Amino acid sequence: MSYALLDRGEEVVVLDNLMTGVSSLVSPDAEFIEGDIGDLALVRALLRSRKIDTIMHFAGSVVVPESVSDPMKYYANNTAATRSLIEAAVREDVPHIVFSSTAAVYGMPPVPVMAEDTPPRPINPYGRSKLMTEWMLADAATAHNLSYIALRYFNVAGADPLGRTGQSTPNATHLIKRACQAALGRVSHLDIYGTDFDTPDGTGVRDYIHVTDLVEAHLAALDALRRGTESGIYNCGYGHGMSVRQVISAVEKASGRRVPLREAPRRAGDPAMVIADATKLRRNLDWSPRYDDIDVIVSAALRWEQRLNH
Ligand code: UD1
Repeated sequence: MSYALLDRGEEVVVLDNLMTGVSSLVSPDAEFIEGDIGDLALVRALLRSRKIDTIMHFAGSVVVPESVSDPMKYYANNTAATRSLIEAAVREDVPHIVFSSTAAVYGMPPVPVMAEDTPPRPINPYGRSKLMTEWMLADAATAHNLSYIALRYFNVAGADPLGRTGQSTPNATHLIKRACQAALGRVSHLDIYGTDFDTPDGTGVRDYIHVTDLVEAHLAALDALRRGTESGIYNCGYGHGMSVRQVISAVEKASGRRVPLREAPRRAGDPAMVIADATKLRRNLDWSPRYDDIDVIVSAALRWEQRLNH
């Protein structure tokens, strides 16, 4: 994100506690501060001294199964730390916040395609911790001179086309990363979690959005807030899905290798289909996707995985 902001001539200050972040991935042209978003005094001082006009908030824990086994970590890192960040913004009169929310707020919805007004019913602490943040933002925006856009990410995938950044979390469990690792022989095989879903080929269907398109949604959100667009929530996806088997085929095509597979039972809490109704994003935020192609997404992820070399 910081590369894209700097490319447009913005000044960027990155605050990260490096719990999961990697400082070498921060653009050398951004100012980097190692610290925690929950440190009210530090954040207030930064907001004031750097004259920050917009906070883009990506900090948080994101592993769903971990949120079930260690919920207090999620309410601390996601909800409580964000409460402090919002307080800092309010006290320092920062007018705008762009927040990374998640499709996990929808839980197991009764429909496969979700619009922003589909009632949120998160089924894990991760989704709940993010939904609570959306509520805090809405209340703060009502009470104070603050406007926000919450972007509900669907399945983020791919990597920077210029090879500068990509999914770097060790032991990540995401499908595309695991499939690339299996194709490259870095893990023994890929488990397909469930082959008996009510989907065209029986495997789970997700709306994979290229990270660069997601970055551009943030830029569009920033522009919208600055021109006075009202606060709101936006789904970030393409509006159509790919199955696990379709993703595997794309990885095999991009790598020229077979992905060793094992059919495994469904993962607890995995819905059959999770697809965004992204009409609002296209209509209201001056955004249209540039990388809506699973082959392009998978190729970028594979190139990044090869560079990572572990
Ligand atoms: C992902 C994110 C979640 C986010 C959600 C938004 C993770 C692990 N997942 O969930 O935080 O809120 O998007 O919609 O952070 N699969 C396999 N084998 C594997 C891995 C996955 O078959 O080894 C299947 C899954 O069953 C699922 C699909 O691939 O059908 C995608 O799974 P995954 O990449 O883990 O993402 P989600 O669970 O959809």
